[in-house]
Amino acid sequence: MEPELDRFNTIQSVYHEIDALDLSNLGKTPFYATPKIQIFQALKYLIQNGIISRSTTFIDLGSGTGVTTAIASYVFGLNAIGIEGDLHLYEIAIQLKSRLNQFTTDFDLEYIQADFTKVELFKELDNVIVFNYLAGDVLPVLDQLQLGNYFITYLMGGSLGLPLNRDQARQQLFDSASWSYASSEEKTRMINHLLEQYRSWRYLLNPPETAIYLYQKI
Ligand SMILES: C[S@@+](CC[C@H](N)C(=O)[O-])C[C@H]1O[C@@H](n2cnc3c(N)ncnc32)[C@H](O)[C@@H]1O
Repeated sequence: MEPELDRFNTIQSVYHEIDALDLSNLGKTPFYATPKIQIFQALKYLIQNGIISRSTTFIDLGSGTGVTTAIASYVFGLNAIGIEGDLHLYEIAIQLKSRLNQFTTDFDLEYIQADFTKVELFKELDNVIVFNYLAGDVLPVLDQLQLGNYFITYLMGGSLGLPLNRDQARQQLFDSASWSYASSEEKTRMINHLLEQYRSWRYLLNPPETAIYLYQKI
């Protein structure tokens, strides 16, 4: 079996019990975990196409139970950092990491319990890809990313269009974000700001339900 698939299967078995629990009441925003297959396919695509490499640092802003960072580090060998505000979710991530450590300690995965809007990581780090489910407060954080680095988010469905033109990118951001606190004016202001700083693409992966949105700071 291909080593990546083998390791992905280990992640699935380690996360099996936690997947069965309803954790939706936890977290700063309603919690749900990214489907594993989607982040697996997205990272595989980005690595195979030379967009990121094994020396890239993958950061999940709002990492929940840590599944995306576990896949990035344990399966693909990236340096991975998960930042999660909720103590309970953070502790679950730490426990699951220690279960992965029973298979090997040879992967680079760190969890930080903090408000990601208050962590100043990006000024020091280069060669970074930041993942977020797209909450409004991530946009000011992305201001700190260095030129050439990437931001990735995802949506289900949608049609193929590569690269996104600015109007499509704007609409996608406007529609998909979980912006419970923001007015339309605030959303528009933040989205304009992001689009001034980033070039964007949309990729549909196989199965076609997986759409990833990739932004590169320019
Ligand atoms: C939709 S879940 C995504 C979990 C994880 N990224 C995944 O893909 O499985 C969003 C997570 O972001 C966390 N979160 C939201 N705002 C945050 C903040 N400002 N700082 C840290 N964590 C935050 C929530 O507690 C929640 O666990």
